[in-house]
Amino acid sequence: MAKTAAVQHVCSECGTASGRWLGRCPGCGEFGTLVAETARVRGDRPVAKPLLHLVDVVAEEAGRILTGVPELDRVLGGGLVPASLVLVGGEPGVGKSTLLLSALGAISLDRRALLITGEESVAQVKLRAARLGGCDRVEILAETELDVVCETLERERPEVCVIDSVQTLWSQEIGSAPGSVAQVREAAARLLRVAKASGVATFLVGHVTKDGSVAGPRVLEHLVDCVLQFEGDRYHAHRILRAVKNRFGSTNELGIFEMTGAGLVGVPDPSEIFGKTHGGEIGAAVVCTIEGTRPLLLEIQSLVAPTDLAMPRRVGTGVDPKRLAMIVAVLARHAGLPLGGADVFVNVAGGVRIDEPGADLGIALAIASAAKSLPVRDGVATFGEIGLTGRLRVAAQADRRVVECHKLGLRSVVAPAGTKGAAVEAETLRQALAAGLATNHA
Ligand SMILES: Nc1ncnc2c1ncn2[C@@H]1O[C@H](COP(=O)(O)OP(=O)(O)OP(=O)(O)O)[C@@H](O)[C@H]1O
Ligand SMILES: [Mg+2]
Repeated sequence: MAKTAAVQHVCSECGTASGRWLGRCPGCGEFGTLVAETARVRGDRPVAKPLLHLVDVVAEEAGRILTGVPELDRVLGGGLVPASLVLVGGEPGVGKSTLLLSALGAISLDRRALLITGEESVAQVKLRAARLGGCDRVEILAETELDVVCETLERERPEVCVIDSVQTLWSQEIGSAPGSVAQVREAAARLLRVAKASGVATFLVGHVTKDGSVAGPRVLEHLVDCVLQFEGDRYHAHRILRAVKNRFGSTNELGIFEMTGAGLVGVPDPSEIFGKTHGGEIGAAVVCTIEGTRPLLLEIQSLVAPTDLAMPRRVGTGVDPKRLAMIVAVLARHAGLPLGGADVFVNVAGGVRIDEPGADLGIALAIASAAKSLPVRDGVATFGEIGLTGRLRVAAQADRRVVECHKLGLRSVVAPAGTKGAAVEAETLRQALAAGLATNHA
């Protein structure tokens, strides 16, 4: 039997425990993150267990559960792994409940699927289900008490369960309020045990904090098998789902959805939407990036405007600010662009965030187009990494990017020397810009 012991103070950021309250966490150095929680000690001495050799372990390769939402399956690494625990984080209103309800609807056609709602009433869920359609066989329970939830899962053993949200669960054994660090951590740990023991693949919906990480202690992210982040501008219809952590697949995969009146609709060919420029427009270039296994064409827009500021601004939406500063510096130094007295703004279409260096050349081409007031040539797409010396480096998986550009009708691919299939193979940034920009613009 567990019995209660002294109060412990645990850091909500890194999980470091301390006997007394401290203003600053000795583990991560953050201020004001230590929260009181009741520590429990075991009454009985634990009993040692016999060991196994891995060769003796019988593991049946269970098939993955297809969620009926192909973009979600892709991000999960080819479907949901049975008995796994998946944390889905995202800003309020981004569409977490919508996405998971439509997945449950499709799963419920041939498996038992349960929705445990703590945030919305059964009637509210019904309204959403009516809008989405196809959710008639989903089972539902409105419950926030952790013990009841775990008991129900153990008894009913649905194959897939969604808990919306983990922050609403609370356990009587823990003194603190629902949503507090101790409660969220206890809920995740208990559900992890239930998921593994009863074979329930569980989605946990988690809220995100102001800085974008899933609220609650970081240990929550360590506990679960997979952390998915649902991003997107609430004011744009497109939403992006990416895996931050995945024990059963790649973390670079991207799922793209569009929010419509009938729910979230997957966008199987986003290059069609994001990779279009209006011919002859100044400051717009098309770049081909690779997100996971999928090449993606994106329009990059740039504005270069004169400024009186002593420190001109370099503002990027969807690009890494350090990378942007580097590209502006290389453009000024090695391509002779006078950017010292100008503000530079860069924007990536559709709210997509670019993380890979293969997009450098596209960003540089858009800025050069804006700075020189010359449009990019018709049918030009580009990709490649820019070095600090102004020399270009071949991007990873270049052949797949070339194929994607050709597929969308962009025949003039400007890429670093050594890229097979490119129309122009440029050694340096200067050569690539000369090949990419139109010369006889009126
Ligand atoms: N009839 C509708 N037509 C189009 N879009 C809608 C409609 N109803 C709701 N939405 C969209 O669904 C979004 C809310 O989705 P959902 O409730 O799944 O979000 P959530 O991430 O679960 O939010 P929360 O964190 O509050 O639980 C809204 O932002 C809105 O854009
Ligand atoms: Mg919700």
